Amino acid sequence: MMINKRTLRQVVVFVSVASTICIVLFCQTSTWSFHTDACVCNCAMDSEGLLWFSQRYKPSANVTLNTKNSPLDFHTYWWWKSLQNESTVADYKKVVEVLFSLFPDKDHYSDTSPSRCRTCAVVGNSGNLIGSHYGALIDSQDFVIRMNEGPTKGFEQDVGSKTTHRVIYPESAVDMDETTHLILLPFKILDLQWLISIFTTRHIDLTYMYVKPSVKADRNKVMILHPAFMKYIYESWLQSHGGYPSTGFISLIFALHICDEVSMFGFGPTKDGVWHHYFDDFSSDSNGGPHDGGSEGEVIAQLHQKHRITTYKGWE
Ligand SMILES: *[C@@H]1O[C@H](CO)[C@@H](O)[C@H](O)[C@H]1NC(C)=O
Ligand SMILES: *[C@@H]1O[C@H](CO)[C@@H](O)[C@H](O)[C@H]1NC(C)=O
Repeated sequence: MMINKRTLRQVVVFVSVASTICIVLFCQTSTWSFHTDACVCNCAMDSEGLLWFSQRYKPSANVTLNTKNSPLDFHTYWWWKSLQNESTVADYKKVVEVLFSLFPDKDHYSDTSPSRCRTCAVVGNSGNLIGSHYGALIDSQDFVIRMNEGPTKGFEQDVGSKTTHRVIYPESAVDMDETTHLILLPFKILDLQWLISIFTTRHIDLTYMYVKPSVKADRNKVMILHPAFMKYIYESWLQSHGGYPSTGFISLIFALHICDEVSMFGFGPTKDGVWHHYFDDFSSDSNGGPHDGGSEGEVIAQLHQKHRITTYKGWE
């Protein structure tokens, strides 16, 4: 069969154009993937910021508890046990066994990679949220982490309506909807027993105060923060200042570990220097209880200054 010259020329032109396109595409693809490998999220930290951050951030930290990572070394166990008084102390190992017969026994959020870009909103309960109109911005983040009783109903415009995670402990627990992960912050072994109890026998209604014997939540979405994670935050992020970190600060470091970009809302005082909740007139103290509000505030300011998180104060 004869191939005429015209057809041959067309084939040659086609092949050369096609390969040029391929080369261009390949180059663009590899340039593009080079950039994504280097940075997709949080690209603004300079080398000084990165150094400061790497001295505190431990990427290998066990964030949530599971059967495999549950053994506590001697120092962690005693540090954790000293946080709150317990009159009767159950066997930690036995309690953990029951825990993970009920709740997902997984390595949650072990999907860290340079190309992941998950965004988190950490929403505190400060009165500085009132009138902020942050609701839409908060709801646009992949994860919205709230703490304790912080409500959304009636406050949607300022605090949003989405809650993917709610960090609680027995004394601060509230009911949650079926889309929310209950994140238990355990300060004692009794807190782990309480978590079991609210989904089974409902017989525990007293710790150092009355606690809810049952809580509405999806059992398959329950996660428990690792006691060693709390100790790591205390030592590495707060240089062991204060008694132990506050729920807000723990939630922030939790977000730093499971998300790639973190925005913080509802922390600190109002514009007029008043510390109170957005949902009641209860005034909260900046330096209240066992927490070192000063050290925590300083770390948060540094994280913001070094462009690792964005804090929204409710004004400006
Ligand atoms: C996490 O848990 C595993 C299993 O207990 C342990 O071997 C490992 O050292 C822990 N990681 C850190 C950073 O402590
Ligand atoms: C533990 O109990 C002792 C004695 O009752 C008390 O002095 C101490 O303040 C308590 N500690 C905590 C963290 O509640």
